[in-house]
Amino acid sequence: MAEVVILDSRAAAGALVADEIVRLVDEVRNPVLGLATGSTPLPVYEALRERLAGHDVSHVRGFALDEYVGLDVTHPESYRSVITREVIEPLGLDPELIRVPNGALETVRHAGDDYEREIIDAGGVDLQILGIGTDGHIGFNEPGSSFASTTRLKTLTEQTRADNARFFDSLDEVPRHCITQGLGTILRARHLVLLAFGDAKAEAVAAALEGPVSAMIPASAVQLHPHVTVVVDEAAASRLELADYYRYSYENKPSWQGI
Ligand code: GLP
Repeated sequence: MAEVVILDSRAAAGALVADEIVRLVDEVRNPVLGLATGSTPLPVYEALRERLAGHDVSHVRGFALDEYVGLDVTHPESYRSVITREVIEPLGLDPELIRVPNGALETVRHAGDDYEREIIDAGGVDLQILGIGTDGHIGFNEPGSSFASTTRLKTLTEQTRADNARFFDSLDEVPRHCITQGLGTILRARHLVLLAFGDAKAEAVAAALEGPVSAMIPASAVQLHPHVTVVVDEAAASRLELADYYRYSYENKPSWQGI
């Protein structure tokens, strides 16, 4: 089962995950990070700023989960722009080594296969950061997505468009399509780290971790993975039936075990 760590602040969650990423950067020859966008991973990226200062990051590779289709990459809310602003620049990573799926309309037909090949050529993702949508999506794999899916074009649900409208001037501006790593792609990463904060995520988190494995809750795919860490605050954990057991397990964890 996933290890569920319930912490009392987003900063504590960010620090826990950032420490593991620093360990990878220092110890793995060619570390490959799976990067997520949205507000949830921001505490991780913030914690990494001070923790990675002075470390050699020139060899760090990264793959973003998803991108809007048909939104100019220079748009401030394209995921390329977001990853540049939140991750590449503050952490001093090499922009050439940090990839984001190509959402250009002209090439989107083969962009998914191209991206899959790049991930495989890089040796696969060591640690994949994940947020979760209120409908249980990960990346942009909306309900109904195949557990075997790879990077491909998807149509966003109206709920996801409405959730993401806050980043745009109006709902009309939110693209209708995206290109996202598939659930099959995500499941190939060696370690999945799913973060969630706030009441709005409580139901999706409980369904993903304790409900049936179902394409209707794409994040329930994490139940099929051998190494998953879920880091949540009290609010996001509030619907978990086994919350006391998760707390007990984490408190009694052998000191030699990492996350
Ligand atoms: C978007 C992203 C997801 C992210 C989700 C939740 O749909 N494609 O990767 O997990 O939003 O966003 P937030 O973290 O802002 O709640």
